[in-house]
Amino acid sequence: MPSLNDIRSTFLSYFEKQGHTVVPSSPLVPRNDPTLMFANSGMVQFKNLFTGVERRDYTRATTAQKCVRAGGKHNDLDNVGYTARHHTFFEMMGNFSFGDYFKNEAIPFAWELITRDLGIDRKRLLVTVYHTDDEAVEIWKKTGVPEDRIIRIATNDNFWMMGPTGPCGPCTEIFYDHGDHIWGGPPGSPDEDGDRFVEIWNLVFMQYEQFEDGSRKELAAQSIDTGMGIERVAALLQGTNDNYATDLMRSLIEASADATSSDPDGPGKTHHRVIADHLRSTSFLIADGVMPSNDGRGYVLRRIMRRAMRHAHMLGSQDPVMHKLVPALVRQMGAAYPELGRAQALIQETLRLEETRFKQTLDRGLKLLDDELAGLGEGDALPGAAAFKLYDTYGFPLDLTQDAMRERGRTVETQGFDAAMAEQKAKARAAWSGSGEAADATIWFDLAEKHGATDFLGYDTETAEGQILALVKDGGTVSAASAGDTVQIVLNQTPFYGESGGQVGDEGVLKTEAGVARITDTKKVAGVFIHFAEVSEGEMKPGQAAVLTVDHARRTSIRANHSATHLLHEALRRALGDHVAQRGSLNAPDRLRFDFSHGKALTPAEIAQVEAEVNEYVRQNSPVDTRIMTPDDARAIGAQALFGEKYGDEVRVVSMGALPGSGKGSDGATYSLELCGGTHVRRTGDIGMFALTSETASSAGVRRIEALTGALAMAELRSRDKALADIETMLKVTGPEAVKRVQALLDERRTLSNEVSQLRRDIAMSGGTGQGNDVEAQTINGVRFVAQVLSGVSGKDLPPLIDEHKARLGSGAVLLIADTGGKAAVAAGVTDDLKARLSAVDLLRAAVTELGGKGGGGRPDMAQGGGASAENAVGAIAAAAKILEG
Ligand code: ALA
Repeated sequence: MPSLNDIRSTFLSYFEKQGHTVVPSSPLVPRNDPTLMFANSGMVQFKNLFTGVERRDYTRATTAQKCVRAGGKHNDLDNVGYTARHHTFFEMMGNFSFGDYFKNEAIPFAWELITRDLGIDRKRLLVTVYHTDDEAVEIWKKTGVPEDRIIRIATNDNFWMMGPTGPCGPCTEIFYDHGDHIWGGPPGSPDEDGDRFVEIWNLVFMQYEQFEDGSRKELAAQSIDTGMGIERVAALLQGTNDNYATDLMRSLIEASADATSSDPDGPGKTHHRVIADHLRSTSFLIADGVMPSNDGRGYVLRRIMRRAMRHAHMLGSQDPVMHKLVPALVRQMGAAYPELGRAQALIQETLRLEETRFKQTLDRGLKLLDDELAGLGEGDALPGAAAFKLYDTYGFPLDLTQDAMRERGRTVETQGFDAAMAEQKAKARAAWSGSGEAADATIWFDLAEKHGATDFLGYDTETAEGQILALVKDGGTVSAASAGDTVQIVLNQTPFYGESGGQVGDEGVLKTEAGVARITDTKKVAGVFIHFAEVSEGEMKPGQAAVLTVDHARRTSIRANHSATHLLHEALRRALGDHVAQRGSLNAPDRLRFDFSHGKALTPAEIAQVEAEVNEYVRQNSPVDTRIMTPDDARAIGAQALFGEKYGDEVRVVSMGALPGSGKGSDGATYSLELCGGTHVRRTGDIGMFALTSETASSAGVRRIEALTGALAMAELRSRDKALADIETMLKVTGPEAVKRVQALLDERRTLSNEVSQLRRDIAMSGGTGQGNDVEAQTINGVRFVAQVLSGVSGKDLPPLIDEHKARLGSGAVLLIADTGGKAAVAAGVTDDLKARLSAVDLLRAAVTELGGKGGGGRPDMAQGGGASAENAVGAIAAAAKILEG
């Protein structure tokens, strides 16, 4: 009897012998299809080959594809465990031709493989074809299938489409007859839904492309896409019609029975089936980078996990169970899917953590449920409010509550649940918009509510497709944006990092079939990633698919700077003491800045020590690891958290560096452990080199270090060398020669200092990063208004910057706030044409008041002042904007 692993090998090697390239399964999270939550069939990774958009160096391929159907359109979650053939995870075997062979070869291939190589009894097979497809009927007859076993089907069952749009075509399906001891009729008959006749293989003749308006175009090349559910074929070859009785599923069910000391076939049978199925989907999802969360893919994962965990609980298990089953799964599937073994530790840890936490609330939640039920009449539905309380307080996803109610013969009143959810969202939003952030912020809440949070893919990839959900201009949505427009774009998923935790937002390019936009910044509000875009070509519209590409060189520098900041933090703690805590940071492409609590200036020796230690760990080139844990667990292993920062249920813990003699990676032996949501290098060696450029006071009791990495650090060290050499030369000369030399150096210093001032102004004019992204002007009450917060610029740099902005604007007003180590220097300017109705002095005073300063003055075209705290720069800009509003 062939095992499931044997069947997979037989399939792939059959097609390999027929000239097909064996292509690995694509990840469960599709990189090339923004409309799909998870890969749900073998053709997903080849979508663009069928339409001819993409070409590869093979025209025949074969795969065993990991698929998940849970959440989204194909959602089998609720049925799993209760039927013989529903799964959240399954494998689809397939062979593909991209403009190579067509029906004439595909049909005999399939027949030969199943009747000869797999040895399935041909008398038990029958096939369906699309009712008009005479050609397929003829080929089947020639291949040896008698006419009375070929059934013509006129419905969409035999016309396969991947979705509302995309490649599609008629298909032919192969069915297996399990015998008349099982109820059911052949396809097309009234009893076709019975279990007797089971579809085992679908061969799709890709020959059309379907468009949004319903029209259909013939594809330039005819192609083949097939899909065989390996679990079904394994079942029939192993003499059963129950997928859960096959060798692979059976071994997982036995592992579940073992871990819960219960009978695999006893009253807990359904529980074991649910656990076995969900173990596969959760483990594969985690291996592909999905982490449990309260949104999107992460939430689907959490729902599956918790459903399994409740079934484990019903088996009476006191301790977490799921993580104990992972080794059994890796034994079964690790050879075919090596990613499973690689991620084993992460999978186990994630499952154990989730189950431990869920167990803590499960009992209380179930008690609440029982209390509620006691008050209900026979067969009454559970009120939505109770289901919501279970969700909100005890983390019971709705479908889990529904599953629990189903066992008690009840339903859940979902309308009430939805209403309670909507009310909670409205409250959260009211609380947020009351916090005085930018006035257009409510739009992001609207979008978050409508579309959910953006799925961030940027830890694993720098390019991905996303679907445009909304275009925002001047605080409202618009239905299109065309060349020359500056808009903000929201997509369902993105590889672009949204500014947070000190790390600047990503820049890059967004392309659709119809247009191109440059992304100049990315921010994050209410879980929505906002892409600041300048459309440079064509037109963009919601609904379109877009390819997003992060500026790789820039992100690489940001990664290096962010990881170096972690090493710096730890080096400071070790050099100065445990009182060193992070007070702020900036991780930009061209530099890093780290503010930390410490009472006095560092000595040159301390600076040298810190710099040397960071470089030591850079040279160690140890891997950078990321894990997800509860904040408490993270603190327990000594992770550095931002003091006073609020964390959610889970945190990302980034660790790097191995202490000497520790053996790598184990907790407590790791050099740096920090809670962090940012993007990091793979290994510390990717930082290249680290150079500390300045150490200054930031505010009382807080010091500020600025530093460089990579090539910039190298240049810094070179210039230090040169300065030393200059001093040495100077010490060797005497008398008038020495005076001349000193004079020359002083002159050089003045020139350099002027150059630095000029560079600072240039950087400030380009948005502060030196990347040439000009500052955007907004228009208020007909006046163009530029407002900007700058760092690394002093008060005396402001007037020339005001002039420069005025010149660029032609007509308008400018407000600049320089953060000078916590204090603020402020300047305002108004172009001459507006002086009569608007005074720079008024703008300045409004801003200065917000910044905790008094007075300030100047002329209607230019005014200057200062404030005690730069913190409220956003408020100051808003106050000046109010003046403009009139
Ligand atoms: N893509 C086809 C299916 O999923 C083969 O059935």
